[in-house]
Amino acid sequence: MTVQAHAKVNATLEVYGKRPDGYHALRSVVLPISLADELEITCSKGLSSDTGYADDLCVKAARVLAAGRSDVGAAIRVRKRIPAGGGLGGGSADAAAVLVALNELWRLGLSRKELAERGALVGSDVPALVLGGPVLMEGRGETVSRIAAPTLHLVLVNPGVHSSTRDVYAACQPRGVGEASATSSMIAALGTGDLRQIAAATMNDLQAPAVRLHPQIAEALDSLHEVGALGVMMSGSGSCVFGFAQDAATAVRMSADLTAQGLQAWAVQTVSSAAANC
Ligand code: C5P
Repeated sequence: MTVQAHAKVNATLEVYGKRPDGYHALRSVVLPISLADELEITCSKGLSSDTGYADDLCVKAARVLAAGRSDVGAAIRVRKRIPAGGGLGGGSADAAAVLVALNELWRLGLSRKELAERGALVGSDVPALVLGGPVLMEGRGETVSRIAAPTLHLVLVNPGVHSSTRDVYAACQPRGVGEASATSSMIAALGTGDLRQIAAATMNDLQAPAVRLHPQIAEALDSLHEVGALGVMMSGSGSCVFGFAQDAATAVRMSADLTAQGLQAWAVQTVSSAAANC
């Protein structure tokens, strides 16, 4: 079975206090995008992947789904297009696609909601990507619900530095509860479909600490402002940054301008599909 594992950007990411389990409480609007890894998943003996990562999230996801059974197995091959350490949820997208695909291949009959619950055991971003479509993510990432949003055109830039999620969270000063929520403003803006309002509502509490750790991120943000992208912001814990464009042709032109400057850039659009398209 060949499946697409879609990357995401965080249109907002609000970080509240640290929870007793060591994770931070969040509110975030997660938008899956057309940039995707391609996974080839076949039934086989044992569980293996060809990523070469010691902490491979594909195998972790398969193990969680197998739940100790030894009569199910899978071999997973990943054609990587989503940069690692980029805040685009690459590893989590692969894990989400594995959960959805193996649910079918192994005929487990689990619902999306049940798969999302299993995903929370694999990583904080996995439930949102299992659910698919524009999502409001809360808790440490385990509470997910679909939201309405139009198709949006974006430009992404990869500053080429590996940003450690753990280090960026550790450097973040959490906001107080009860403050006006940018995430609520974003959900309202997405509901209107007005790009100016959507662009005005982007925010990310991890951006300032990530820029302090990796000044290259600030340069990538500047480059997006210079080509006229709207609502320019970092995604997740970085290092990739994004901005909105009025339409697909504008996104492609901005991406070409940035590529001509020697930057790694993509023109993408949001997708409302589920984690894996067979
Ligand atoms: O869940 P995941 O393994 O993706 O998280 C990676 C790291 O990011 C955690 O070890 C933690 O340091 C940080 N994190 C957090 N709060 C969250 C999600 C992630 O502190 N809600």
